[in-house]
Amino acid sequence: PERTNSKGWDITHQPTLNQIAKDCAPHRNAQFNAGPCPSYGDKYPRRRLLPAQDILNPANPGDLVGQVQQSQADDIAEALENARPWQADLANRRAALLAAADAYEANAGLLFAILTREAGKTLADAVAELREAVDFLRYYAAQATPDNQPRGIWTCISPWNFPLAIFTGQIAAALAAGNAVLAKPAEQTPLIAYQAVRLLHEAGVPQTALQLLPGGGSVGAALTSDARIGGVAFTGSTATALRIRSTMADNCAPGTPLIAETGGLNAMIVDSTALPEHAIRDIINGSFRSAGQRCSALRCLYVQEDIAPNLLAMLKGAMNELTMGDPWHLSTDVGPLIDATAQSNISAYIADAAAEGRIIHQLPTPADGHFVAPTAIRVNGIADMDREIFGPVLHVATFKGDALEKVINDINATGYGLTFGLHTRIDDRVQTIVERVTAGNIYINRDQIGAVVGSQPFGGDGLSGTGPKAGGPLYLPRFSSHLATQTDA
Ligand code: NAD
Ligand code: ALA
Repeated sequence: PERTNSKGWDITHQPTLNQIAKDCAPHRNAQFNAGPCPSYGDKYPRRRLLPAQDILNPANPGDLVGQVQQSQADDIAEALENARPWQADLANRRAALLAAADAYEANAGLLFAILTREAGKTLADAVAELREAVDFLRYYAAQATPDNQPRGIWTCISPWNFPLAIFTGQIAAALAAGNAVLAKPAEQTPLIAYQAVRLLHEAGVPQTALQLLPGGGSVGAALTSDARIGGVAFTGSTATALRIRSTMADNCAPGTPLIAETGGLNAMIVDSTALPEHAIRDIINGSFRSAGQRCSALRCLYVQEDIAPNLLAMLKGAMNELTMGDPWHLSTDVGPLIDATAQSNISAYIADAAAEGRIIHQLPTPADGHFVAPTAIRVNGIADMDREIFGPVLHVATFKGDALEKVINDINATGYGLTFGLHTRIDDRVQTIVERVTAGNIYINRDQIGAVVGSQPFGGDGLSGTGPKAGGPLYLPRFSSHLATQTDA
């Protein structure tokens, strides 16, 4: 049966979480290494010693989680040279991806511990993330058909906020179609990526079909500017996607596909017929879970004017119930931001709003670690927001009952189109608004985060991405060449 705790969080899996805490315990103080592989690392021959970079726990920067050796120009050259499409027949490819899914599950404690210490994930988020990664492996293994002919070498570039799930999803789709993959994780989260690649190799993915190249934007730029690349799968900010598109246009063969999944300026409308307790639970979850570091997160809440005083009072009360702190503890609801840069950018943004007298409510911030307290800020509307604020900041606007059309126009005018939420009990309104709002994922009377592979394919339009949606039936074919099917016909 479904259960929620007094804060509205789903605790259905609480007994599992207690077990997970035990499984994580041996990895509490361990240190991990990562580097280009298969050419470097504990499982692979180490070719040279270069200064490695420390990876520190964002909740507790005194905790050294591990070290990463960044990819150098010759690692990239060698990886491109060594990359070979995965020649194994479909049954073998499927078997290896399914074995990798099992291996991820068997190593849950290790993966949860790294997700928590490297990326600041709460244990509940780490559980959801592992499930999504495993779902991607099994889903794309099942989706692959003999028609999915490889395109060649895919560069897969992922963000830090889903450093296991999105990292794995891109790779799994490219591999299921028989491609070779050069995987570049985000610079903040190479350690979890390294473990994922290790498990994939151990499950039977050839080392020439999957190579890891840790590093920052310059490594990503090198991997998207080579004429041998057959395609690029990118998830990250809209600004980086635009940069990659232009690099590819100048350097890659014409028609080389770019799958880009990018940012969002996501809204929710709560009208006066909504159930307030229900809406509050979903607002809190959508805005502050994962410390707001989700592309899908609720950024701008529109509340119908006549219920606003009551709903805002309830919002403050619900915010007060949130526990911030070290995500290692099961009681933590809101963990840290990913790094000091994110913390100072979001803090400065909130300080500007405070100087303008626009803070509705803010929690106290813990002293250590890269924390920013959940904050609600008053705005006139989504048009006041000129960019995605990637943290625990909820913008709140009110609207009059006869202004719904303008609200929808303003939401569409941002140019983004990722998630949208609506709380109402008027059926006709649901139909009208769903037809009018341009967003990839629309959620009615629930929160707007946590899409599920296979049943809720995820992705946006406009500035939020190119499609096809991840975890849906159209995604894997995009990694394939259609030529074999055409020839057969
Ligand atoms: P980012 O764009 O800064 O970095 C993403 C990746 O791109 C990293 O691996 C980075 O090293 C790499 N990169 C940076 N410059 C590059 C360049 N010039 N060429 C090639 N690669 C380059 O994004 P981030 O801060 O890691 O992630 C947060 C962003 O990701 C947010 O905007 C969020 O909305 C978005 N996101 C979108 C989705 C989605 O499915 N739509 C999912 C998760 C995150
Ligand atoms: N797929 C993730 C979500 O739906 C980003 O929250």
